[in-house]
Amino acid sequence: MNQDALQQRIRQLARERNALLIAHNYQRDEVQAVADITGDSLALSLEAARTDQDVIVFCGVHFMAESAAILAPEKTVLLPRPDSGCPMADMVTAEGLKALKEQHPDATVVTYVNSSAAVKAESDICCTSSNAISVARSLPAKKLLMVPDRNLGRYIARQVPEKDYIFWEGYCPTHDRLKTEEIIKAKADHPDALFMAHPECRPDILDLADHICSTSGMYEFARNNPATTFIVGTEEGILWRLRKENPDKTFIIPSHGLICPNMKLTSLEDILKSLQTLEPRITVPEPIRLRALTSLERMLAVPR
Ligand code: 13P
Ligand code: SF4
Repeated sequence: MNQDALQQRIRQLARERNALLIAHNYQRDEVQAVADITGDSLALSLEAARTDQDVIVFCGVHFMAESAAILAPEKTVLLPRPDSGCPMADMVTAEGLKALKEQHPDATVVTYVNSSAAVKAESDICCTSSNAISVARSLPAKKLLMVPDRNLGRYIARQVPEKDYIFWEGYCPTHDRLKTEEIIKAKADHPDALFMAHPECRPDILDLADHICSTSGMYEFARNNPATTFIVGTEEGILWRLRKENPDKTFIIPSHGLICPNMKLTSLEDILKSLQTLEPRITVPEPIRLRALTSLERMLAVPR
Protein backbone atom coordinates (compact mmCIF):
# COMPACT_ATOMS: atom_id res chain seq x y z
CA MET A 1 0.00 0.00 0.00
CA ASN A 2 1.32 3.47 -0.78
CA GLN A 3 1.32 6.27 1.83
CA ASP A 4 -2.00 7.84 0.74
CA ALA A 5 -3.78 4.50 0.73
CA LEU A 6 -2.37 3.63 4.16
CA GLN A 7 -3.49 6.98 5.58
CA GLN A 8 -6.99 6.53 4.13
CA ARG A 9 -7.24 3.00 5.54
CA ILE A 10 -6.10 4.26 8.97
CA ARG A 11 -8.68 7.07 8.96
CA GLN A 12 -11.45 4.65 7.94
CA LEU A 13 -10.52 2.11 10.61
CA ALA A 14 -10.19 4.85 13.25
CA ARG A 15 -13.80 5.83 12.51
CA GLU A 16 -14.97 2.22 12.72
CA ARG A 17 -13.15 1.68 16.02
CA ASN A 18 -14.25 5.05 17.46
CA ALA A 19 -10.54 5.78 17.96
CA LEU A 20 -8.77 9.09 18.54
CA LEU A 21 -5.35 9.25 16.88
CA ILE A 22 -2.93 11.48 18.72
CA ALA A 23 0.67 12.20 17.77
CA HIS A 24 3.48 13.97 19.59
CA ASN A 25 5.15 16.91 17.86
CA TYR A 26 8.30 14.79 17.21
CA GLN A 27 6.56 11.99 15.30
CA ARG A 28 7.34 11.32 11.63
CA ASP A 29 5.67 13.80 9.23
CA GLU A 30 3.28 11.21 7.76
CA VAL A 31 2.20 10.13 11.27
CA GLN A 32 1.50 13.72 12.34
CA ALA A 33 -0.42 14.18 9.08
CA VAL A 34 -2.77 11.25 9.74
CA ALA A 35 -3.42 12.16 13.41
CA ASP A 36 -6.56 13.90 14.74
CA ILE A 37 -4.45 15.94 17.13
CA THR A 38 -0.76 16.77 17.50
CA GLY A 39 0.70 18.41 20.57
CA ASP A 40 3.13 18.39 23.49
CA SER A 41 3.04 15.74 26.20
CA LEU A 42 0.68 17.65 28.48
CA ALA A 43 -1.81 18.61 25.77
CA LEU A 44 -1.96 15.06 24.45
CA SER A 45 -2.57 13.49 27.85
CA LEU A 46 -5.33 16.01 28.51
CA GLU A 47 -6.94 15.24 25.16
CA ALA A 48 -6.79 11.54 25.99
CA ALA A 49 -8.55 12.19 29.29
CA ARG A 50 -11.15 14.51 27.73
CA THR A 51 -12.21 12.53 24.67
CA ASP A 52 -15.39 10.48 24.68
CA GLN A 53 -13.91 8.09 22.10
CA ASP A 54 -13.30 4.51 23.26
CA VAL A 55 -9.82 3.98 21.88
CA ILE A 56 -6.76 6.21 22.00
CA VAL A 57 -3.94 5.46 19.59
CA PHE A 58 -0.92 7.17 21.14
CA CYS A 59 1.80 7.88 18.60
CA GLY A 60 4.60 8.90 20.92
CA VAL A 61 6.76 7.18 23.53
CA HIS A 62 5.84 4.82 26.35
CA PHE A 63 5.55 7.31 29.25
CA MET A 64 3.07 9.41 27.25
CA ALA A 65 0.73 6.49 26.62
CA GLU A 66 1.12 5.52 30.27
CA SER A 67 0.04 9.02 31.34
CA ALA A 68 -3.05 8.64 29.14
CA ALA A 69 -3.78 5.25 30.76
CA ILE A 70 -3.39 6.80 34.24
CA LEU A 71 -5.77 9.66 33.42
CA ALA A 72 -8.29 7.59 31.41
CA PRO A 73 -8.26 3.99 32.74
CA GLU A 74 -11.63 3.16 31.20
CA LYS A 75 -10.30 3.74 27.68
CA THR A 76 -8.26 1.42 25.51
CA VAL A 77 -4.87 3.13 25.15
CA LEU A 78 -2.77 1.74 22.32
CA LEU A 79 0.94 2.40 21.75
CA PRO A 80 1.62 1.14 18.20
CA ARG A 81 5.31 0.61 19.05
CA PRO A 82 5.67 -0.66 22.63
CA ASP A 83 9.45 -0.52 22.23
CA SER A 84 9.37 3.28 21.90
CA GLY A 85 10.81 4.20 25.27
CA CYS A 86 12.37 7.41 26.55
CA PRO A 87 16.00 6.99 27.66
CA MET A 88 15.64 9.88 30.10
CA ALA A 89 12.58 8.28 31.74
CA ASP A 90 14.63 5.08 32.11
CA MET A 91 17.36 6.94 34.03
CA VAL A 92 15.32 6.84 37.25
CA THR A 93 13.62 3.90 38.98
CA ALA A 94 11.10 3.92 41.82
CA GLU A 95 13.70 2.19 44.06
CA GLY A 96 16.36 4.79 43.25
CA LEU A 97 13.95 7.62 43.97
CA LYS A 98 12.84 6.03 47.26
CA ALA A 99 16.49 5.87 48.38
CA LEU A 100 17.05 9.56 47.55
CA LYS A 101 13.81 10.54 49.33
CA GLU A 102 15.08 8.82 52.49
CA GLN A 103 18.12 11.11 52.43
CA HIS A 104 15.91 14.21 52.05
CA PRO A 105 12.70 13.59 53.99
CA ASP A 106 11.87 17.32 54.05
CA ALA A 107 11.98 17.72 50.23
CA THR A 108 8.99 17.78 47.86
CA VAL A 109 9.54 15.52 44.84
CA VAL A 110 8.77 17.25 41.54
CA THR A 111 8.83 14.74 38.69
CA TYR A 112 8.88 15.56 35.01
CA VAL A 113 6.18 13.65 33.12
CA ASN A 114 9.02 11.98 31.19
CA SER A 115 9.07 9.21 33.80
CA SER A 116 7.44 5.84 34.45
CA ALA A 117 4.14 5.44 36.30
CA ALA A 118 6.04 3.77 39.16
CA VAL A 119 8.27 6.86 39.54
CA LYS A 120 5.27 9.20 39.35
CA ALA A 121 3.69 7.10 42.11
CA GLU A 122 6.71 7.86 44.35
CA SER A 123 6.47 11.60 43.61
CA ASP A 124 4.56 14.46 45.22
CA ILE A 125 3.71 16.32 42.03
CA CYS A 126 4.46 16.12 38.30
CA CYS A 127 5.44 18.88 35.89
CA THR A 128 5.88 19.24 32.14
CA SER A 129 8.07 21.55 30.10
CA SER A 130 5.12 23.93 29.76
CA ASN A 131 4.17 24.28 33.45
CA ALA A 132 7.35 23.45 35.41
CA ILE A 133 7.95 27.01 36.65
CA SER A 134 4.36 27.49 37.88
CA VAL A 135 4.50 24.08 39.59
CA ALA A 136 7.75 24.93 41.44
CA ARG A 137 6.40 28.36 42.50
CA SER A 138 3.15 26.84 43.76
CA LEU A 139 4.84 24.55 46.30
CA PRO A 140 5.11 25.56 49.96
CA ALA A 141 8.25 23.43 50.55
CA LYS A 142 11.64 25.17 50.53
CA LYS A 143 13.51 22.10 49.27
CA LEU A 144 12.62 20.54 45.90
CA LEU A 145 13.91 17.26 44.55
CA MET A 146 13.86 17.56 40.75
CA VAL A 147 13.50 14.26 38.86
CA PRO A 148 14.79 13.05 36.38
CA ASP A 149 15.96 15.87 34.07
CA ARG A 150 18.95 17.78 35.43
CA ASN A 151 18.63 20.38 32.65
CA LEU A 152 14.94 21.13 33.23
CA GLY A 153 15.70 21.11 36.98
CA ARG A 154 18.50 23.65 36.66
CA TYR A 155 16.37 25.80 34.36
CA ILE A 156 13.61 25.89 37.00
CA ALA A 157 16.15 26.61 39.72
CA ARG A 158 17.24 29.73 37.87
CA GLN A 159 13.68 30.90 37.35
CA VAL A 160 12.56 30.14 40.90
CA PRO A 161 15.68 31.00 42.94
CA GLU A 162 13.93 31.23 46.31
CA LYS A 163 13.95 27.40 46.64
CA ASP A 164 16.73 24.91 47.45
CA TYR A 165 17.20 22.13 44.89
CA ILE A 166 18.49 18.60 44.62
CA PHE A 167 18.79 17.31 41.06
CA TRP A 168 18.50 13.78 39.74
CA GLU A 169 21.28 13.57 37.13
CA GLY A 170 19.14 12.34 34.23
CA TYR A 171 19.07 13.96 30.80
CA CYS A 172 17.64 13.60 27.32
CA PRO A 173 20.40 12.24 25.07
CA THR A 174 18.94 14.08 22.07
CA HIS A 175 18.76 17.55 23.63
CA ASP A 176 21.84 17.18 25.83
CA ARG A 177 24.11 16.67 22.83
CA LEU A 178 23.35 20.07 21.30
CA LYS A 179 26.57 22.14 21.44
CA THR A 180 27.05 25.88 21.96
CA GLU A 181 29.33 26.00 18.87
CA GLU A 182 26.39 24.78 16.77
CA ILE A 183 24.17 27.59 18.03
CA ILE A 184 26.90 30.20 17.65
CA LYS A 185 27.45 29.07 14.04
CA ALA A 186 23.70 29.07 13.25
CA LYS A 187 23.41 32.58 14.73
CA ALA A 188 26.41 33.79 12.69
CA ASP A 189 24.88 32.29 9.51
CA HIS A 190 21.45 33.83 10.29
CA PRO A 191 22.10 37.03 12.26
CA ASP A 192 18.42 38.07 12.26
CA ALA A 193 17.14 34.71 13.50
CA LEU A 194 15.63 34.16 16.94
CA PHE A 195 16.73 31.06 18.83
CA MET A 196 14.00 29.08 20.61
CA ALA A 197 15.11 26.22 22.86
CA HIS A 198 13.51 23.38 24.78
CA PRO A 199 14.35 23.36 28.53
CA GLU A 200 15.84 19.85 28.12
CA CYS A 201 18.87 21.57 26.50
CA ARG A 202 21.92 22.18 28.68
CA PRO A 203 22.19 25.49 30.63
CA ASP A 204 24.92 26.89 28.34
CA ILE A 205 22.55 26.43 25.38
CA LEU A 206 19.62 28.00 27.24
CA ASP A 207 21.84 31.02 27.97
CA LEU A 208 21.89 31.67 24.21
CA ALA A 209 18.12 31.35 23.73
CA ASP A 210 15.68 34.17 22.94
CA HIS A 211 12.79 32.00 24.08
CA ILE A 212 12.63 28.80 26.18
CA CYS A 213 9.46 26.74 25.96
CA SER A 214 7.77 23.38 25.39
CA THR A 215 7.37 22.01 21.88
CA SER A 216 3.86 23.47 21.50
CA GLY A 217 5.15 26.76 22.94
CA MET A 218 7.40 26.97 19.88
CA TYR A 219 4.40 26.98 17.52
CA GLU A 220 2.91 29.87 19.46
CA PHE A 221 6.18 31.83 19.55
CA ALA A 222 6.82 31.37 15.81
CA ARG A 223 3.23 32.29 14.94
CA ASN A 224 3.04 35.44 17.07
CA ASN A 225 6.53 36.81 16.59
CA PRO A 226 7.18 39.19 13.68
CA ALA A 227 10.65 37.65 13.09
CA THR A 228 10.90 35.57 9.93
CA THR A 229 13.78 33.22 10.77
CA PHE A 230 14.02 30.90 13.77
CA ILE A 231 16.74 28.57 14.98
CA VAL A 232 15.00 25.59 16.56
CA GLY A 233 16.59 23.94 19.61
CA THR A 234 14.56 20.75 19.80
CA GLU A 235 13.86 17.49 17.99
CA GLU A 236 13.53 18.00 14.24
CA GLY A 237 10.05 16.43 13.98
CA ILE A 238 8.72 19.80 15.08
CA LEU A 239 9.63 21.28 11.69
CA TRP A 240 6.67 19.69 9.87
CA ARG A 241 4.00 21.73 11.63
CA LEU A 242 6.18 24.86 12.07
CA ARG A 243 6.64 25.02 8.28
CA LYS A 244 3.01 24.12 7.52
CA GLU A 245 1.66 26.85 9.81
CA ASN A 246 4.23 29.48 8.78
CA PRO A 247 4.92 29.01 5.05
CA ASP A 248 6.60 32.43 4.78
CA LYS A 249 9.02 31.85 7.66
CA THR A 250 12.31 29.96 7.78
CA PHE A 251 13.17 27.36 10.44
CA ILE A 252 16.71 26.14 10.96
CA ILE A 253 17.78 23.05 12.85
CA PRO A 254 21.29 23.83 14.14
CA SER A 255 22.55 20.24 14.54
CA HIS A 256 22.34 16.85 12.81
CA GLY A 257 21.97 15.24 16.25
CA LEU A 258 18.49 16.54 17.06
CA ILE A 259 16.70 13.28 16.30
CA CYS A 260 15.02 11.10 18.93
CA PRO A 261 15.23 7.54 17.52
CA ASN A 262 12.37 6.37 19.74
CA MET A 263 10.05 9.05 18.42
CA LYS A 264 10.78 7.90 14.87
CA LEU A 265 9.88 4.24 15.43
CA THR A 266 6.13 4.50 14.81
CA SER A 267 5.20 3.96 11.16
CA LEU A 268 1.85 4.11 9.37
CA GLU A 269 1.99 0.30 9.11
CA ASP A 270 2.34 0.05 12.92
CA ILE A 271 -0.68 2.33 13.42
CA LEU A 272 -2.80 0.31 10.99
CA LYS A 273 -1.84 -2.97 12.67
CA SER A 274 -2.60 -1.52 16.09
CA LEU A 275 -6.07 -0.42 14.97
CA GLN A 276 -6.72 -3.84 13.43
CA THR A 277 -5.67 -5.82 16.50
CA LEU A 278 -6.36 -3.27 19.28
CA GLU A 279 -2.88 -4.13 20.57
CA PRO A 280 -0.39 -3.36 22.12
CA ARG A 281 -2.48 -1.98 24.96
CA ILE A 282 -0.91 0.06 27.76
CA THR A 283 -2.28 -0.42 31.27
CA VAL A 284 -0.98 0.51 34.71
CA PRO A 285 -1.56 -1.68 37.81
CA GLU A 286 -4.30 -0.02 39.87
CA PRO A 287 -2.32 0.67 43.11
CA ILE A 288 0.42 2.41 41.10
CA ARG A 289 -2.07 4.16 38.85
CA LEU A 290 -3.92 5.73 41.78
CA ARG A 291 -0.74 7.12 43.34
CA ALA A 292 0.60 8.35 39.98
CA LEU A 293 -2.79 9.94 39.31
CA THR A 294 -2.48 11.97 42.52
CA SER A 295 0.84 13.43 41.30
CA LEU A 296 -0.65 14.25 37.89
CA GLU A 297 -3.83 15.74 39.37
CA ARG A 298 -1.85 17.97 41.74
CA MET A 299 0.00 19.27 38.68
CA LEU A 300 -3.23 19.86 36.75
CA ALA A 301 -4.64 21.85 39.70
CA VAL A 302 -1.77 24.38 39.52
CA PRO A 303 -2.92 27.57 37.75
CA ARG A 304 -0.85 28.25 34.62
P1 13P B 1 7.09 18.44 25.35
O1 13P B 1 6.24 18.18 26.53
O2 13P B 1 7.61 19.85 25.30
O3 13P B 1 6.38 18.05 24.09
O4 13P B 1 8.41 17.56 25.47
C1 13P B 1 8.36 16.17 25.48
C2 13P B 1 9.66 15.59 25.20
O5 13P B 1 9.85 14.40 25.25
C3 13P B 1 10.74 16.48 24.87
O6 13P B 1 11.88 15.77 24.62
FE1 SF4 C 1 12.84 11.20 25.74
FE2 SF4 C 1 14.47 13.01 24.71
FE3 SF4 C 1 13.11 11.42 23.11
FE4 SF4 C 1 11.87 13.36 24.49
S1 SF4 C 1 13.38 13.61 22.87
S2 SF4 C 1 11.19 11.25 24.23
S3 SF4 C 1 13.05 13.31 26.39
S4 SF4 C 1 14.69 10.81 24.57
